[in-house]
Amino acid sequence: MRDIRHFFLGCIMAALALVFAASSLPPNMANAQEAGSVATETEIDRSATGGATTLEDIMRRQQGLEVDNTFRSENIGDPAVAAGMSDQLGTLGGASDPDLWRGMRFNAADVTTQVRGPASDVLIQDGGMWWLLFREGPLLTYGGYLLLGTLAFLALFFLIRGRVRIDGEKTGQRIERFKNFERFGHWLLAGSFILLGITGLVSLMGRKFLIPAFGHESYAWLATASKWVHNNVSWAFMLALVMIFAMWVIHNLPDKTDLKWLAKGGGLFGGGHPPAKKFNAGQKMIFWSVIVLGVSISVSGLSLLFPFELPMFAKTFAILNNTAVPEMLGFGILPETMTPHEEMQYAQLWHAMVSFALMAIILAHIYIGSVGMEGAYDAMGSGMVEEQWAKEHHSLWVEEVKQREGKAPGGATPAE
Ligand code: HEM
Repeated sequence: MRDIRHFFLGCIMAALALVFAASSLPPNMANAQEAGSVATETEIDRSATGGATTLEDIMRRQQGLEVDNTFRSENIGDPAVAAGMSDQLGTLGGASDPDLWRGMRFNAADVTTQVRGPASDVLIQDGGMWWLLFREGPLLTYGGYLLLGTLAFLALFFLIRGRVRIDGEKTGQRIERFKNFERFGHWLLAGSFILLGITGLVSLMGRKFLIPAFGHESYAWLATASKWVHNNVSWAFMLALVMIFAMWVIHNLPDKTDLKWLAKGGGLFGGGHPPAKKFNAGQKMIFWSVIVLGVSISVSGLSLLFPFELPMFAKTFAILNNTAVPEMLGFGILPETMTPHEEMQYAQLWHAMVSFALMAIILAHIYIGSVGMEGAYDAMGSGMVEEQWAKEHHSLWVEEVKQREGKAPGGATPAE
């Protein structure tokens, strides 16, 4: 019976991993892979259209395949062949109107403007379409499935495993687990993350789910409020991230007790409590996910908060290309030059994808820190935990505390 349960849980976890992996692949990258081979196989003959777009180009675009646009991006007029000023087209300096529009579209026109500010001289950039389609399509869909799938998984887990109870007899003694400032840091992080998650989802999913339900006017109000909260609360999240890193990094460095804990699956099934220090291996994974993904969300968020001022994707892609890892993973060569708007588009997608991943992880954390385990919430609620709980889940930490206090276990603070 237990084997069947393990198999069942394994299948669900594998499915969730697959959904997430699929959600993290931008469609144009996948298509680019496919199209790359097709494009080299068939050289398109454009003589019938005088070098312009052919039916084949249109069909490829409609199928979502990559279209080789060099016949347009390189056809932007040539000042060297400019007609004399008094001749036809002479005033355009060797380029016709279509040439100029193509130049603008492919960011090759020499545009000057009195508008000051980054990216103000980019008049057309067509990269916005795939970004919009990806944002409204796979990002929203798979991101939503990931969260719903995680909730369903946790509900199932609760049904199968039930609440993790304190096995032994409760002692009535309590030990201090987290000090006030530690709990303040945790709740600042938790509160801000939950607000950011909700307001972020409102911004991403509002058009699809909230406008049809509540109408444009109500949503406009909600979207404005969400954006304001999201932008400002982000600072609290970043501050809390620094706080918990400084407070807890020392307790989250991996050591050999983690291997034993993992080998026993944390004692979740099959009884027994593998020894653990202040944080067990599962908690260390949560901690490092929060730090690594939280920093990544913060950095891409800062790039969005100060538009065009902190471009980082072209540089990051160049570094990644040098490692050859993107090619090995089938992503091909990542773009190393991009317009300022493309930088923002990548920042937005990355910000949302990493946030979805962290939200899913945090849902599991919230579960185990509240309904999933008897006695766990007290650690962050009052800061004091039942000694029997501590002995079962963090036996090595209890020994450390006792040694530090130089007292026998009976000397713990009595419960109120
Ligand atoms: C209502 C929501 C939440 C509850 C009930 C909750 C509960 C808890 C509890 C009880 C602990 C202490 C566990 C122990 O004593 O060993 C803890 C630790 C922690 N929490 Fe939360 N938490 C919540 C939200 C969050 C959020 C949103 C984040 C991050 C974005 C977060 C990050 C952490 C981290 C990094 C730790 C230390 C490592 C660990 O115990 O896994 N928590 N939380």
